[in-house]
Amino acid sequence: MHGPRRKLKVFVMTMMTLFIFIVVEVSRSTGQDKNSRSKVRVPTKPFWRKQTPHDAYWNLQQQKLDHQNNPILNGPNMTFSNSRLPEWLNETSLNNSCEPDFIVTTQVKDFSSLPDRFKDFLLYMRCRSYPMVVDQPEICKDPPFLLLAIKSLAPHFDRRQAIRESWGRAGLMANKTVVTIFLLGNATSVDNFPDLSHLLHYESSRYGDLLQWDYRDSFFNLTIKEVLFLEWVNTRCSEASFIFKGDDDVFVNTLHIINYLKGLSPAKAQDLFVGDVITNAGPHRDKKVKYYIPESMFVGSYPPYAGGGGYLYSGHVAKRLHGIMGQVVLYPIDDVYTGMCLRKLGLAPEKHKGFRTFNIEEKFRNNPCAYKSLMLVHPRTPQDMIKIWAWLNDPALNCQ
Ligand SMILES: *[C@@H]1O[C@H](CO)[C@@H](O)[C@H](O)[C@H]1NC(C)=O
Ligand SMILES: *[C@@H]1O[C@H](CO)[C@@H](O)[C@H](O)[C@H]1NC(C)=O
Ligand SMILES: *[C@@H]1O[C@H](CO)[C@@H](O)[C@H](O)[C@H]1NC(C)=O
Ligand SMILES: *[C@@H]1O[C@H](CO)[C@@H](O)[C@H](O)[C@H]1NC(C)=O
Ligand SMILES: *[C@@H]1O[C@H](CO)[C@@H](O)[C@H](O)[C@H]1NC(C)=O
Ligand SMILES: *[C@@H]1O[C@H](CO)[C@@H](O)[C@H](O)[C@H]1NC(C)=O
Repeated sequence: MHGPRRKLKVFVMTMMTLFIFIVVEVSRSTGQDKNSRSKVRVPTKPFWRKQTPHDAYWNLQQQKLDHQNNPILNGPNMTFSNSRLPEWLNETSLNNSCEPDFIVTTQVKDFSSLPDRFKDFLLYMRCRSYPMVVDQPEICKDPPFLLLAIKSLAPHFDRRQAIRESWGRAGLMANKTVVTIFLLGNATSVDNFPDLSHLLHYESSRYGDLLQWDYRDSFFNLTIKEVLFLEWVNTRCSEASFIFKGDDDVFVNTLHIINYLKGLSPAKAQDLFVGDVITNAGPHRDKKVKYYIPESMFVGSYPPYAGGGGYLYSGHVAKRLHGIMGQVVLYPIDDVYTGMCLRKLGLAPEKHKGFRTFNIEEKFRNNPCAYKSLMLVHPRTPQDMIKIWAWLNDPALNCQ
């Protein structure tokens, strides 16, 4: 036989063998399928991995909370939860009590050697409600398109004023309604703050844009600020279409944000959560870092989270965050906590390159056009805010 014909014959034979093999295999496996379907094995006992208590305090508390909120274990039948619930999971102390919780002094292994801010945090970790001392119950009577919620500290009068005079100017902007509020705790004498209550009182009556709760305004209590804010939004401003939450040392290009929001599809707008997203991060173990977290407190990695300098989300997501936050144990770093709540909801924050919480290159900082298509830049002084805002609103500004 000639080469090509022989090759063809070999090819045909191979294909036929393959075909027969496939036919046999298919009929074999369907036969097996029928066979095995008749003896489906139903688990007779719980088949999931047995839980063992975590060593780290936060993780342990979260395990208990997860158990409490598990819809299968706590469903109408309770068959599994009633039988042999390990003692460490049968917790009656998981309440939102605002009394100092001295149990932590024995449950956190190295409690006595921890820096004070951890002791303070741990002692009040269960408390989620503090009295509101300044409210603006009517501020969202006409629901805004965009609510700007700015985390501030009582003595930062100049930052708040610069925001009011620049990017946080309330009213109509790009033909959309904007409402601005400042979130304050109490700058207490424990932290050696002077008594600013009269000045704040004047500021509040003059501008009507302060919200204040009576708790100690410290870095580790920023999570309290987040929880109290979500509570407030839910009761006082639940119809806001979008919310920006950020610090008082950032510049926000509100005009660009509004135009971005106007352009979103309804589906995208509904589940919006964008910012400078940090992924694959975990707790710092270096005691000198501001974000240090001891191993006795938390073990594991952080979910994706948007840096707390500023992020943008929908009113719909705010409602969902409010609904889920009770199922996430308070964590001393507020933006990580929000990331944890989003993860519980099955959502992930989306990175947007317009959020520059780590600033822009130095050579662009004095170029007005560099700010035109940015959402946020951190950090900026009150004077910077006023300067940059004037640049962006100059009709003569001409950027390519
Ligand atoms: C609860 O258990 C009973 C008996 O084991 C069963 O008949 C019933 O369907 C179960 N109900 C639910 C809601 O799972
Ligand atoms: C939890 O503990 C209490 C007493 O400490 C006991 O009465 C209760 O039955 C326990 N619950 C479960 C589900 O094991
Ligand atoms: C909350 O739990 C603690 C135990 O950790 C208990 O002493 C306290 O009475 C409880 N408070 C309420 C209001 O149930
Ligand atoms: C401004 O908004 C109103 C109501 O939302 C709308 O009717 C009007 O067309 C808008 N004007 C411009 C210039 O976009
Ligand atoms: C805030 O702290 C100050 C000083 O520590 C205290 O006098 C005051 O009662 C606290 N509460 C409010 C609402 O200012
Ligand atoms: C948070 O605020 C509460 C209430 O003022 C206070 O008792 C606690 O010490 C504060 N925690 C931190 C970490 O500052």
